[in-house]
Amino acid sequence: METRKKVFSGLQPTGNIHIGNYLGALKNWVNFQDSYETVYCVVDLHAITVPYDPAEFKKDRIAAAKVLLAMGIDPQRSMFYFQSQVPQHAELSWILGTMTPTGVLNRMTQFKEKADKAGSNLGLYSYPVLMAADILLYNADLVPVGDDQRQHLEMARDLAERFNNRFGEVFHIPEAYIPEVSARIMSLSDPTAKMSKSDPNLKSMVLVLDPPDVINKKIKSAVTDSDPVVRYDRTVKPGISNLLDILSACTGSSTDVLAGEYATGGYGAFKQAVADAVIEEFAPIRLAYDRLDDAEVARIMHKGALDARTAAEGYQVKVREAIGLERI
Ligand code: AMP
Ligand code: TRP
Repeated sequence: METRKKVFSGLQPTGNIHIGNYLGALKNWVNFQDSYETVYCVVDLHAITVPYDPAEFKKDRIAAAKVLLAMGIDPQRSMFYFQSQVPQHAELSWILGTMTPTGVLNRMTQFKEKADKAGSNLGLYSYPVLMAADILLYNADLVPVGDDQRQHLEMARDLAERFNNRFGEVFHIPEAYIPEVSARIMSLSDPTAKMSKSDPNLKSMVLVLDPPDVINKKIKSAVTDSDPVVRYDRTVKPGISNLLDILSACTGSSTDVLAGEYATGGYGAFKQAVADAVIEEFAPIRLAYDRLDDAEVARIMHKGALDARTAAEGYQVKVREAIGLERI
């Protein structure tokens, strides 16, 4: 029997899940369930590398799991759990840390950005090592992420190779799966900056759980330019190009076709079409979210963690043995 390729990805439970997360990564998580073995993780240990409030965090963890379930992550088909509840992630991270040159970590752009904003700590510095451990723990082949994770993925591949060269073939070399159109959705208030969960300006992002009237308002007030021709040009027309990316990812039509369709109708009609498409995309997610209760989510995550521990341990014994520890 041919074994199916394995997919792994993670989402930090930090606040607002937005359309960038969805179109850049999460939509693919859901679709991959049809043809791959899928393992998805709410990476709460990654989230505590920046300052946070424990009470908010507790709510955000459950909310993130609930949004993913509402999107269609199906615990019958995917392994789905909280990273902190499967201790093998942290164990493998330590082991991989011993083979990570600090020079490599010093080059990580996301570390530099976050350290500038939130201050540095060892966890933030070794964040990409824990991410590599997440992926390598299950021998994942494919990792659906947005463009901002490219460098981290390269590091995970590099660590897998280093490990294999030194200790024998234990890990698969994972590949990033980064979508063509929507890998980098830009802020609605500044289309030259990435849409970011940590942006305090909520107008800059459409949230997956925003009600239709809010989505409508946010898209209508998205910053564009004053030349009213809809065409794709990331440099000259970053705002319009971003909206074309969003519309393309929601409808499946190419940005070229859509630009042709809306070229001369003015920005009003174009923005309305984008808002309508986003509202339609998110309506079933909101509905499913409202139907789920927190106790049910907690139960699903608990079961997911128990299954994941068993699976992770099955791989981890090979790592221990390879490096000269005991299998136990
Ligand atoms: P995070 O919120 O950092 O846990 O990101 C979750 C996923 O969303 C990751 O795969 C990111 O690469 C992806 N992502 C985050 N922001 C964006 C964006 N603006 N456009 C596309 N993908 C994004
Ligand atoms: N660093 C990723 C992000 O910020 C989240 C993440 C943690 C992840 N571990 C992962 C993504 C493993 C893919 C695979 O988006």
